[in-house]
Formats: sequence, structure tokens, C-alpha cells
Amino acid sequence: MSFVEVIPSGAFSLSIGDIAPDKSISHRSAMFAMLADGESVISNFLRAEDTLNTLQIVKNLGADVVDNGTIIRISSKGIKEPSEILECGNSGTGMRLFCGLLSSANGHFVLTGDKYLRSRPMKRVTNPLISIGAKLDGRKDGDLAPLSIRGSSLKAFDYKSKIASAQVKSCMILAGLRADGVCRYTEPELSRDHTERMLKGMGADIVVDGLTTTINPLKKLLNPLTIRVPADPSSAFFFAVATAITPDASIVLEGVTLNETRIEAFKVLEMMGADITYKETDNRYEPIGDIAIKYAPLKAITIEDNISWLIDELPALSIAMACAEGESVVKNAKELRVKESDRISTVVTGLKACGIEVDEYEDGYKIKGGNLQKATIDSDGDHRIAMTFIIAGLKCGMKVTDIECINTSFPNFFELLKNITKVELY
Ligand code: S3P
Repeated sequence: MSFVEVIPSGAFSLSIGDIAPDKSISHRSAMFAMLADGESVISNFLRAEDTLNTLQIVKNLGADVVDNGTIIRISSKGIKEPSEILECGNSGTGMRLFCGLLSSANGHFVLTGDKYLRSRPMKRVTNPLISIGAKLDGRKDGDLAPLSIRGSSLKAFDYKSKIASAQVKSCMILAGLRADGVCRYTEPELSRDHTERMLKGMGADIVVDGLTTTINPLKKLLNPLTIRVPADPSSAFFFAVATAITPDASIVLEGVTLNETRIEAFKVLEMMGADITYKETDNRYEPIGDIAIKYAPLKAITIEDNISWLIDELPALSIAMACAEGESVVKNAKELRVKESDRISTVVTGLKACGIEVDEYEDGYKIKGGNLQKATIDSDGDHRIAMTFIIAGLKCGMKVTDIECINTSFPNFFELLKNITKVELY
């Protein structure tokens, strides 16, 4: 198991044009290409473990994938029954979206993942799918992978979800595209909406009205996708926090999706005092542009709304909170407990090890701003926890263990970090 020693940094002024491409959009690009009539052309696809697993599954399902290292071309003549078990690795997005895509396909499919994914809840997708006629099963009465799917015909639905989850919503939208009538999906808060935007852009008849998405079943195959995947705001955010906690630092994060369901963490950092500006430079399926951040002293904040817009950034935000003046509170964030790790527990344990006063709640935590101290932090196999405490190390130095997981989402993280400080990898 490898580890990293991070050395505290001084001020920096940088512009980064090669932040890892967006993970959510990369997964979807590969999967949705299977619903198109013709060749989809995808550039800047995220070449990280999670999304490369999805691309491999798309190949296993019979798609023709031509990859010249820069551009990936995908064409499909329909989903074929694979002879392999479909390996989603660490990715909940991969597993949950494939459940929706495959529930109505002809054949038998088995989805599995690494030990972390095999312990994450799947009933949130298997239950609604089974209720519309899907034939799915898994360990613990269908809650845990490996999951098996026998494709079948699906009934139209009007499903009201109790959780604001883009993975569940996307799974049900994919199922709805092949159901036997008009389907409706309602969520309690708007979650990220790449699926709706991309499928509509490909010609699907999907109507979004507030929290309800109406899905009209496909009458024909969709138009192919032509997409350049923008940079991932959740990955970019680690560098935003690095800047916000380093006096006199400034950074420009280029070519990031500015989709409002994805940049809420930057808005929170702004409310905490950081100087942040946004410049839209492009718009394809969603707005894309540059985010510029300048250091300014941070003050505490309470976060209890729009949690799904912040779900991936809350660990990194906890470092900004630890460096802010006053007590910050995160509430209504129980979903953090079922991410790649129990992120309430990993954040609280990590911050305490760094000498920060933290109270843990069932659905969040309270963090008292203070002086971060060097510690040894284990990532618990969670890429965002690893990167969170590496960024904290810019303030005080840090040893972080079990860091291979960073490859699931941000393979060039250390290359970019080396522009800011010295890191020693072991
Ligand atoms: C994702 C949705 C989020 C997020 C995950 C990616 C997606 O999960 O945490 O990293 O691509 O749809 P939930 O929608 O389950 O909260």
C-alpha cells in the first residue's frame, strides 16, 4: 500500500488547463453511445479506473469502440449478452446506471465491483426497478453486488424518490426510455442533471419540470453524441480549497463544467470569503468555462440545503471549514455515510487526528476552525478522502496512506499538485 508525504506550500499563482475530465459525463458518454444510431465521438474522456471500467463494459456489451488515445468513437448495434462478468470497480455510478440500462435488454448480465462497491446499498435502484417488472437480484435480498439481471419488459412508472440521487434518477430515466408507456420520476431536491441534458441533446423526449422528469419511451434510436468532456468541478475543487487556505495564492481552473448542480461548493467557498469569479467560454449540453479563485480569509458557514449539489465536495470543504474562523456545521448529509467510504466518519476521524475540534452527528458534523497539524491519515480506500487530507497538508504537512484510489477519478492529481508543493510518493 503506497503513501505520500506532503510538504507545506507557500503562495502560488497558477492556471491549470488539464484538470481531470468530468467523471459523471464520461461514464454517461460511453453508456449513452449504446443508445445511438451511428458513431458517437467523445474527446477528453476521463482515463481513470472508474470510467475505463465503464468503457470496458460497453465493449463487453458488444459496442464497437475505437480509441486512438485522444478520441474515442463508439458505435453499437444493440446490447449483446456478454460472456464476461461486468466489472464496475469502485464506481457506484457505473453499477447503478448499468442496472437501468440493462434491465430491459435481452439477456443475462452480472455486475460486480471492488470490496468497497460490493458493500454499498443497491436497493435504491433494485427496488424501483423490480417494482416495474425488472428481474434483478443480488446478495442481501438484492441490496448488495454482485447483482444479476435477466432483461425483461418494463412497465411505465410514476416514481417518487425519497433520496436526491442522480444515480437513482439516471438509472430510472434509462429504464423509462424502454418502458411500455410515459414515465415520471420525482426527486426531493434537484440532483445533478447531466443525464437529462445529454439524452435531450441526443433527441430523447424528456421533459424536466421542477423536480419531476417525464420520460417518453424511445420510438427510435437516438442521435449520436459529439462531445468534448469538460473538466470535473469535483476534482478542480481540491485546487480551489488549496488556494482558499493559502495566503496570497491564486488559481484559474480552466474548461470546467459550470452546470449549477455541480459548482455549488465554489459558491459555498465564496460565501465563506474566498474571491471567486466564473467566465463562461463554451456551451455544449451544458455551460463550460474558467473559475478563478483568490485567497481571502475564510469565515465559518452552516450548510443544510442542496446537499446533493455538494455531496462530492463536502470532504474538501471540511478543510476550508477547519481553516475558517468560527464553527461550521453540515446537516442533512446522511448520504455521505454510503459513499466510497463513510465520509462523515472518515472526515471526522481525519480532522480530529489533525488537532481540529469536531462533533459528529448522524447526518453531518460541526467543525471548529483552528490550526491544522500534521498527522498520518488513512484514506479508507476513498479517493476524495485521500485528496482532501493531501490538500490539508499544504497548510501543515501530512502523511496520507492508501492513495492508489486517487486513480479512480484523478490520475494526474500529483502531477498538478507538484506545481504547488513538494510531494514525496512512496
Ligand atoms: C454521481 C452522482 C452522485 C455522486 C457521484 C456521481 C453521478 O451520487 O456522489 O460521485 O454521476 O450521477 P448520488 O447521485 O448517488 O448522490
